[in-house]
Amino acid sequence: MEKIIIEGGKRLIGEINVHGAKNSALPILAATVLTTKRTVIHNCPKLTDIDAAINILEHLGCIVDHTEDCVTVDASNIGGSDIPDSLMREMRSSVVFLGAVLARTGKASFSTPGGCEIGLRPIDLHLFAMSRLGAVVKEDFGRLECECPNGLIGDEIILSFPSVGATENAILAAVTAKGTTTIINCAREPEISDLADFLNGCGAKISGAGEGTIVIEGVKQLAGTEHTVIPDRIEATTYMASAAVTQGKMILNGIIPAHLGPVIPIFEEAGCDISIMGRKLYISAPPRPKRIKSIKTMPYPGFPTDAQAPIMAMTTIADGTSVIIENIFESRYKHVNELSRLGAKIKVEGRMAVIEGVPGLYGAPVVAGDLRGGAALVVAGLAAEGITEIEGIAHIDRGHADFEKNLTMIGAVITRENG
Ligand code: EPZ
Repeated sequence: MEKIIIEGGKRLIGEINVHGAKNSALPILAATVLTTKRTVIHNCPKLTDIDAAINILEHLGCIVDHTEDCVTVDASNIGGSDIPDSLMREMRSSVVFLGAVLARTGKASFSTPGGCEIGLRPIDLHLFAMSRLGAVVKEDFGRLECECPNGLIGDEIILSFPSVGATENAILAAVTAKGTTTIINCAREPEISDLADFLNGCGAKISGAGEGTIVIEGVKQLAGTEHTVIPDRIEATTYMASAAVTQGKMILNGIIPAHLGPVIPIFEEAGCDISIMGRKLYISAPPRPKRIKSIKTMPYPGFPTDAQAPIMAMTTIADGTSVIIENIFESRYKHVNELSRLGAKIKVEGRMAVIEGVPGLYGAPVVAGDLRGGAALVVAGLAAEGITEIEGIAHIDRGHADFEKNLTMIGAVITRENG
């Protein structure tokens, strides 16, 4: 069993290049299914979730070439419309292939993705969006069978919650549908805008991405394009939290300042000095972070739920008591018990976590239960005195490329061992 070993207490000082965003690259890879022309995706992070998406593309009949951070897809010969259980289980967010496969082939057959460590992860809004565009959806015995024998027809889709995945599936199904689709109360995350930019680069007609209503004029077919994925705002936030817990001084290259708008004030409240020059962010941390009065996770442009765990790790050693309310996922506090093993003092009541800052953490063996919770354990391990051993690091590899390499470059003592 692989594990990460950290000898904490080292100041992190240096420069890091932020990778492309996993949660943007995944829907864009699904979108390549919509065109018979070649597409090239730059700044695609090397992650196990990306590998899983590429496995699905190849299963569907695509020819995929994957070099360092560039993926080229030829989807001229799509033969299949089913994603087998084994591939769905590799990555539950494979459900984002639904809209694209349905639009390209007229049907889609998947196993229902099921829940994961952070919640039940229902897909009712995805299926609602597909049915609004004329798909017939059947769900039984864990299989999802969708068909649209007469093709997809544009219509109005009003989402009861601005679901990121449901918005992405609605866009993917609508871009080549007959007529116009209006998605109301849609997600406004930067990854939605990046997906729209990729598709408009292929000749789609999408307007309003990044706002609460998106209008899509269906086009007959799409061309190819070259696209560069936006930087990963959650990876950047995780590195900022690593600086904040080690009195660090860090430069993050390649960020998009607006995407960090929801988290920068939190680091400033913690006492960090932050300045931005173009696409570089400079962060300099105080000897000890200050407490954060209250954080509520919300849909963008609110505080991102994916940043909740790494920021909680920062508050465990803050000077005072912090309060976090997780409004998006119903069980996204799996990392609390593991942080407590490192000496953190955290009480969870339903969706609220109260973190009483302690002067310091101490190293211990811990287990990552999900991607962002695992990243939070790395942040805490960097702060802790002594040795922290983290198991379950396959979760971390889903969303953080070159994690140990980057942290080592800026002064961390962190290695990966086959335990
Ligand atoms: C995306 O998940 C991200 N994943 C998540 O990141 C992120 O936490 C989430 O958006 C919120 O920002 C990818 O992009 C691959 P949602 P998604 O649909 O699309 C409920 C990470 O760590 N809901 O916006 O699944 C749902 O239960 C991952 O990188 C329904 O009720 O998020 C949840 O409470 C974790 N019905 C809320 O909406 C539905 O049909 C937010 O889910 C869909 C969602």
